[in-house]
Amino acid sequence: MIPDKAPKEDVFLGSEDLKKEAHVPSFDKYKELYIHSVENPGEFWGDVAKDFFWRNKHTGQFLDYNFDVTKGEIFIKCMEGATTNICYNLLDRNVHEKKLADKIAFLWEGNEPGDELTVTYRELLQRVCQFANVLKSQGVKKGDRVSIYMPMVVELVVAMLACARIGAVHSVVFAGFSAESLCERIIDSQCSLLITADGFYRGDKLINLKLLSDEALQKCKDKGFPVKKCIMLKHLSKEPEEIVGSRSPPAKRSCPDLEIPWNPEVDLCWHTLIKGASDDCEPVWCDSEDPLFILYTSGSTGKPKGVLHTVSGYMLYTAITFKLVFDYQPDDIYWCTADIGWITGHSYITYGPMALGATSVLFEGLPTYPDVSRMWEIVDKYHVTKFYTAPTAIRLLMKFGNEPVQKYKRKSLKILGTVGEPINPEAWQWYYNVVGEKRCPVVDTFWQTETGGHVLTPLPAATPMKPGSATFPFFGVVPAILNESGEELEGPSEGYLVFKQPWPGMMRTVYGNHQRFETTYFKKFPGYYVTGDGCRRDKDGYYWITGRIDDMLNVSGHLLSTAEVESALVEHKAVAEAAVVSRPHPVKGESLYCFVTLNDGVSYNQTLEAELKKQVREKIGAIATPDYIQNAPGLPKTRSGKIMRRVLRKVACNEKDLGDISTLADSSVVEQLFQNRCCTAV
Ligand code: WTA
Repeated sequence: MIPDKAPKEDVFLGSEDLKKEAHVPSFDKYKELYIHSVENPGEFWGDVAKDFFWRNKHTGQFLDYNFDVTKGEIFIKCMEGATTNICYNLLDRNVHEKKLADKIAFLWEGNEPGDELTVTYRELLQRVCQFANVLKSQGVKKGDRVSIYMPMVVELVVAMLACARIGAVHSVVFAGFSAESLCERIIDSQCSLLITADGFYRGDKLINLKLLSDEALQKCKDKGFPVKKCIMLKHLSKEPEEIVGSRSPPAKRSCPDLEIPWNPEVDLCWHTLIKGASDDCEPVWCDSEDPLFILYTSGSTGKPKGVLHTVSGYMLYTAITFKLVFDYQPDDIYWCTADIGWITGHSYITYGPMALGATSVLFEGLPTYPDVSRMWEIVDKYHVTKFYTAPTAIRLLMKFGNEPVQKYKRKSLKILGTVGEPINPEAWQWYYNVVGEKRCPVVDTFWQTETGGHVLTPLPAATPMKPGSATFPFFGVVPAILNESGEELEGPSEGYLVFKQPWPGMMRTVYGNHQRFETTYFKKFPGYYVTGDGCRRDKDGYYWITGRIDDMLNVSGHLLSTAEVESALVEHKAVAEAAVVSRPHPVKGESLYCFVTLNDGVSYNQTLEAELKKQVREKIGAIATPDYIQNAPGLPKTRSGKIMRRVLRKVACNEKDLGDISTLADSSVVEQLFQNRCCTAV
């Protein structure tokens, strides 16, 4: 499956310098380890587990599973019976055993240049223990769910690890989501407590998070689910003495006009609670398969899925992928630009890097604020060695040319990474040639919220790279490409990307709905985990992700389901029916093209258009804002009434070659749709 020898033509090779100290220094070594990892997973992962603290050893098989729905319930278990605590492994062990107490865990860089602070492993341990005691004093116990809705601040990491320390299950909701989305997630996971902040700036835009949180809690209450407590961090309204570890005056962050609604029955102030809290907190020892966190991802039915990850497997997998894919070395300054509200931030800001005792940049702001050089300014400021971002950010910055990049030296950079969507070869080349000056390998990491960590990825010193290909499987991962009938294709081929066996970090269930887990990922092809992505394998065995093959869209690296946007549109009183399709976009990858059929007597105008956009933003969040809305008095349907999205995708792209449309009930609608196309984004 993996070629015997690395190809030599049409590939980019990692730098020779890197090979000298790399953990996996050659393709031959990768291949040898890969074979070992799939033939003897117990031994391979057992070795990885030796780097961690186990209170008790595991009892059964290292990895136990059933992937075949026809043989019974789907399950994945790793190191069952072993007990540990992930927070203990990330903090106490680094502080007390590995002598990293004074090492910086995070270099926090605020939205405004000059707003910065640092936190060491020792300080983090103290703060996490204090906050864990706060949670306990609020009645949070092992297994309870806690919702976290915060900006990119150190306290977000503190809140997550405090939950993990006491065995509570965190559910982080991206702070760009709307009150409605937060409410839906709180209710679905039955969270007893919400942790939030007063507000934050994204560029020059002020987001009043407390107001949104209150709105969400009101909605929860109206739906019969009152949340008992809400802990609010003062981020913008912090008093100077409440700022821990700052190296600069926080004046630029202050926001005197910020309205902070306060309900004394529910609301509690983070800082007041912390004041009296002890910094001694014995970790709660958890079973390997105890839940660690829930993170919601879009589902094709429109209702988000609560992806559940468990303690030990996730810990091993994020740690080892971080170590090998970024070839982590102790003096690295690592920077992942993702938000912690997404899986990339969970795995490659919080858990993976901290397991290794790494120093990371934690950035609150935007790549374009105050100008389009911000990323490279930060790279030089902190001497970043490993840099991980998304293709959409690369394409966005590429538009401004080389000058904003070349204003800065970037000499510290050694490895570049991308994640979130397929990277087009042009963007890859720019990243490699201009940003990395042909010195730095680009690791194009394919993975999902569900996979917990990288599953297809180059290793920077071992894998010859092809721009646009996520290359080969990580250790323990066995991919296959299936055709529509579920047959495995050999050699160069294209079809459904599936995985044949589990790796420790994969999801265990959809929270509260195991059946949905089985139906979504295991039913279509019994015996395989189905990713939902299409994939091509070339003559050299390289994997190329071709994009989603379900009703999912990838806008700026964020997955959205067409169904969730449609249902937000249909909730507007003027809309009778809606259909949403993807249209390629030069920066965002894909954009949302929405067709709406209005109720009788309603006419389409700009006010309505603005209302519809607002509606989607309020229901889901700004990431789902429609790019195009077309008034469509009729939609193309089959005789059985099913909307033919294939036809709508052609209309959105103005492609007249429609293929076979003999199943269409009324072909005159199509002509009308082409006539009324939206040519410019709304
Ligand atoms: C897409 C993000 C191509 C893919 C970590 C996947 C990619 C979905 C890549 C998961 C990549 C992610 N190349 N496509 N390197 N990385 N994707 O759950 O469609 O937010 O299924 O996890 O993003 O998105 P999610």
